[in-house]
Amino acid sequence: MTAATAALLVVAGTRAELAAALAPTRASGGPVVLVPTMGALHEGHATLVAEARERAGADGAVVVSVFVNPLQFAAGEDLDRYPRTLEADLEVCGAHGADVVFVPAVDEVYPGGDPQVTVHPGPLGGVLEGAARPTHFAGVLTVVAKLFGLVSPDAAIFGQKDYQQLALIHRMAADLCLGVEVVGAPTVREHDGLALSSRNRYLDPAQRRTATALSRALAAGSAAAQDGAEAVLAAAHVELAGPLAEGTLALDYLTVTDPDLGPAPDHGAARLLVAARVGTTRLLDNVPLDLSANLHEYLHQTQGAR
Ligand code: PAF
Repeated sequence: MTAATAALLVVAGTRAELAAALAPTRASGGPVVLVPTMGALHEGHATLVAEARERAGADGAVVVSVFVNPLQFAAGEDLDRYPRTLEADLEVCGAHGADVVFVPAVDEVYPGGDPQVTVHPGPLGGVLEGAARPTHFAGVLTVVAKLFGLVSPDAAIFGQKDYQQLALIHRMAADLCLGVEVVGAPTVREHDGLALSSRNRYLDPAQRRTATALSRALAAGSAAAQDGAEAVLAAAHVELAGPLAEGTLALDYLTVTDPDLGPAPDHGAARLLVAARVGTTRLLDNVPLDLSANLHEYLHQTQGAR
């Protein structure tokens, strides 16, 4: 870290240090904006921190939490090998305007061991990612609720890349009246379209090339949106066919939903989501769709039915 960023950034390891770091902002009534992360920060996280800085303004405080949350990993998942890069993370936080980095140990977050009361994600937690990782979203929502409790932010910023996570956190904040504005920030991509993810570093060069099929599939699907959800899926499948046939990519799901992850609409706003494994690495991506150009066809069909 440069001397300038080191001088400005407070690194808090305990709840007490976090409270002390935020005391001046609380006293002045400035907004507090939280960016929850598991570290291994990349350019996508940097945009979240910059967005938080913008929202907090000069009088507010930007808190980035760096915590690899054991509760959201099932046995056999990558908890132990999840990348831990704290020095580099502090650099990113300092360079993009964070004031406080909260880096708690596991027993600071879960002092009594695993919590007995957790957040149940409801039906949305059991589909898509939740079907493959049944305990994942309870772990995510529980830690996010705890971070909201510890930081008391006015707003919290999450990436749209983990779209189902974002939808569930929105839902939790609304359903439990948590008083936190949940903001989704657009996905940041490599020059070849690959969505940035901390897990991309698990990919070897050949796998890294294979992984670009996901964003190509989403782009092809999006280009077919005027012809409706089925055409979107067909176009996306064409891009995945090669790596699927070679066995270098295993598709978990490719689906069109409405923006709240309900059934695909006939027209209007929708979401195209994909999850696949490349080697042992599970990759996710998604894009918004505009099926509104399909409205003409939809009206035609529904008028014909009357
Ligand atoms: O997206 C992540 O990095 C994590 O799931 C989150 C939201 C920080 C909770 O641990």
